[in-house]
Amino acid sequence: MAAPREPVTVTITGAGGQIGYALLFRIASGEILGHDTPVRLRLLEIPQGLHAAEGTALELLDSAFPLLRSVEVTDVPSSAFDGTNVALLLGARPRSAGMERADLLEANAAIFAPQGEAINEHAASDVRVLVVGNPANTNALIAASHAPDVPTERFTAMTRLDHNRAIAQLALKIEVPVTAIDGVIVWGNHSATQYPDVSHATVDGRPVSELVDAEWLDEVFVPRVARRGAQIIEVRGASSAASAASAAIDHVYDWVNGTSEHWTSAGVTTGGTNADAATAYGVPEGLVCSLPVKSVGGEWVVATGLEISADARAHIDASVAELAEERDAVRALGLL
Ligand code: NAD
Ligand code: LMR
Repeated sequence: MAAPREPVTVTITGAGGQIGYALLFRIASGEILGHDTPVRLRLLEIPQGLHAAEGTALELLDSAFPLLRSVEVTDVPSSAFDGTNVALLLGARPRSAGMERADLLEANAAIFAPQGEAINEHAASDVRVLVVGNPANTNALIAASHAPDVPTERFTAMTRLDHNRAIAQLALKIEVPVTAIDGVIVWGNHSATQYPDVSHATVDGRPVSELVDAEWLDEVFVPRVARRGAQIIEVRGASSAASAASAAIDHVYDWVNGTSEHWTSAGVTTGGTNADAATAYGVPEGLVCSLPVKSVGGEWVVATGLEISADARAHIDASVAELAEERDAVRALGLL
């Protein structure tokens, strides 16, 4: 019989929020790390969110999950990140009426800079960080830049929801199961400028371009995927939560357990070991950008050698320019 695995410590910020509620029970049931890995949960909230997180902690205990070793709720980042192996950063300030992008970036930098520092000081040496709170790419960049002792590749931003949305839209249109679709890429920022690219995608081995017309792709598919977040807010009256939690699980599960030869999409830092691959796709160093990635040996590695069409090039450049603008705005505030 195999020896029991050591518990893994998972920290969730903004744990009292909507995504937190959809995510925590799935982590506790073993969906994120595997059904053989015990888990210790740390729930970080701001003081106003503590009651909600404490209520969720009571329900987690009431669920009697066999893999759940402990649940701690705190508003102290140093305690929340102490020895953490996986950090899911959900807590962020949403944009409110009258707020400019720079105001949002400044408000969130005030969250992600100290959390980056706390991760740097207190997390386990193998820590992996997924930033979900928006603007996810730039928040991940801020956190990474405040954690100089953690390899930059360990900070990622979530674009898996966009990737999943793209697959689901193709499956619906072509009338195939989602599992038939392979090779989708989401490039750029987790924003309306992102580019869901199907030029390498296949359906049971056949190129997607043979099965759907170019007009539908340009005029329906791309804007639908890129603006799906706004559509959910409009229809549901709140931003996506369960689908975001599901995408976070997919991202961390693949990161920890590895992907096969098939790539997925993730926002990764374009420095460190990914610098050359990102530069080859025309993405400069010093950003967190969604790219085609495989998980190899517990690290995200950019899938290389993919041809980029002229049309894709223009879309990717626009999204990368937006990322650079966000970085410059944060830099101008002295936060990078
Ligand atoms: P929510 O408002 O329901 O919950 C956010 C929680 O974060 C709140 O409980 C709040 O108290 C907490 N919080 C705020 N500042 C904090 C801090 N400094 N430390 C710890 N906790 C803090 O929001 P939600 O629906 O759970 O969404 C969370 C974030 O995820 C939002 O920024 C949302 O825009 C983003 N999001 C991203 C994606 C993606 O694909 N990347 C998808 C959906 C939502
Ligand atoms: C989403 O993609 O659902 C979230 O990032 C919410 C948003 O603001 O689009």
